[in-house]
Amino acid sequence: MTYHKNNPETISAMFTSIAENYDTTNAVLSLNMHQKWNSTLVRDVLVKQKPKVVLDLCCGTGAIIFEYLKNIQDPVKAYLLDFSEGMLEHAKKRANQPSLLKHDLNYLKADAQQIPLISESVDCVTMAYGIRNVKDPEKCIGEIYRVLTSGGTVGILELTQPKNRIMRLGHFIYLHTLLPILGKLFTSNKAAYQYLCKSISSFAPEQLEVMMQTAGFKQIERKSLFFGVATLLTGKK
Ligand SMILES: C[S@@+](CC[C@H](N)C(=O)[O-])C[C@H]1O[C@@H](n2cnc3c(N)ncnc32)[C@H](O)[C@@H]1O
Repeated sequence: MTYHKNNPETISAMFTSIAENYDTTNAVLSLNMHQKWNSTLVRDVLVKQKPKVVLDLCCGTGAIIFEYLKNIQDPVKAYLLDFSEGMLEHAKKRANQPSLLKHDLNYLKADAQQIPLISESVDCVTMAYGIRNVKDPEKCIGEIYRVLTSGGTVGILELTQPKNRIMRLGHFIYLHTLLPILGKLFTSNKAAYQYLCKSISSFAPEQLEVMMQTAGFKQIERKSLFFGVATLLTGKK
């Protein structure tokens, strides 16, 4: 199967096909650096804002939202949205622990470009490694803005390309030599990891920042993580 974001069914099917081993594979392929980046997103957005209602877009198996919720005493209403049934099933299994079950967890099988929530109903939106897969990111940013309450915060974490020339070369070699080998060793779906390489190369955080400004977000900040291998964009409504 050829995966392309202009054909969202192929992307959803791809994530469902890798859902079983997603967490392990992700740890191996990112050389476990994603844990640190995820913690930055959780700290800079969720811990700071302490939302009563939170939406994790493209939640996958729930890595972001569960890392936050497991340490929170008072119950929080959380929406976990993903268009892959397989990913949501794994998130539900992962949520089956006392530190998480006290929260009001709501699973939404939906497209991030059409969020099935009423306007101004969410205090915080997080989105990790999702936006580069979305067909129309501008529409998605508009939807995030719509569902956020006034003063609410968004945090979008994404894999990007380093600016520094030496790091950029190292990153290129990693994406085109090591990643395919690791992808082959740790997954049965080689094409999925070829798609991953391509999607990282074609994503520009600067464009996303402009989209956030256009949507109306204020106090936009761009944080480069590990020389720009990942980027965190935050903003307020
Ligand atoms: C790389 S995974 C990241 C999962 C999770 N956020 C994490 O940090 O591990 C990307 C997820 O986004 C979902 N996704 C991609 N495009 C989407 C869309 N347009 N609407 C909803 N979910 C989408 C995929 O199904 C997948 O679960």
